[in-house]
Amino acid sequence: MRKKIVAGNWKMNKTLQEGIELARTVNRQVEDNGIVVVLCTPFIHLTEVRNIITKDSLFLGAQNCASETSGAFTGEVSVDMIKSTGADYVIIGHSERRSYYNEDDALLNKKVKLALAAELTPIFCCGEVLAERQAGNHMRVVKTQIEKGLFDLSIDDFSKVVIAYEPVWAIGTGVNATSDQAQEMHKAIRELVAEKYGNLAADNTSILYGGSCKPSNAKELFANPDVDGGLIGGASLNAADFMGIVSAF
Ligand code: PGA
Repeated sequence: MRKKIVAGNWKMNKTLQEGIELARTVNRQVEDNGIVVVLCTPFIHLTEVRNIITKDSLFLGAQNCASETSGAFTGEVSVDMIKSTGADYVIIGHSERRSYYNEDDALLNKKVKLALAAELTPIFCCGEVLAERQAGNHMRVVKTQIEKGLFDLSIDDFSKVVIAYEPVWAIGTGVNATSDQAQEMHKAIRELVAEKYGNLAADNTSILYGGSCKPSNAKELFANPDVDGGLIGGASLNAADFMGIVSAF
């Protein structure tokens, strides 16, 4: 059975003290009602936030991981290090990593495999830029990202991956994809997964929507049959907004 998931991506926001405060408020408000809530914090917050979490439905995640396992890679953080903090999730292939840090499909595929080997759940991001949508290429772009990022995984490994569809033009812009646009893409992604791994695997894959998701639009977005939750940026920085999205289910 696929999970309903709301994951907050704090990006490069919050001092340690601010992050602790936010995590405490979220932990207090999360209800153990079957919806999985994930806080994807900066690396430096992971251990402290892990110690705050007392709810069974609240999980910890990182926003990135190194593409190597250990050694002389100054400034990098490995999957084993992330796992050792008590984190269970890691975002891989966020559009900001793809565009600002030139992370390509091959590198992201490597990171996904490292995360799985460390028993972290990858939240694998995909999504087109505005010009690609305007040219009518959005389906092809997302298909290629998923095929190159994920489709050499065994069915067993693939079943552990969460997919997040995040149209780049919707991220941080205040312009979310419409409910129909989200459903159309999520359905196409599920069909793509079904072709490769079969109907059962497709049915069990959680596909999250990300991009200007807020309490006011979450209900409509999450009501779609193929939208299993959200990856939330800006609105995850405020407990009231974030919990408003969680309660949209
Ligand atoms: P946003 O970001 O909610 O601020 O648009 C989403 C994301 O980048 O994951």
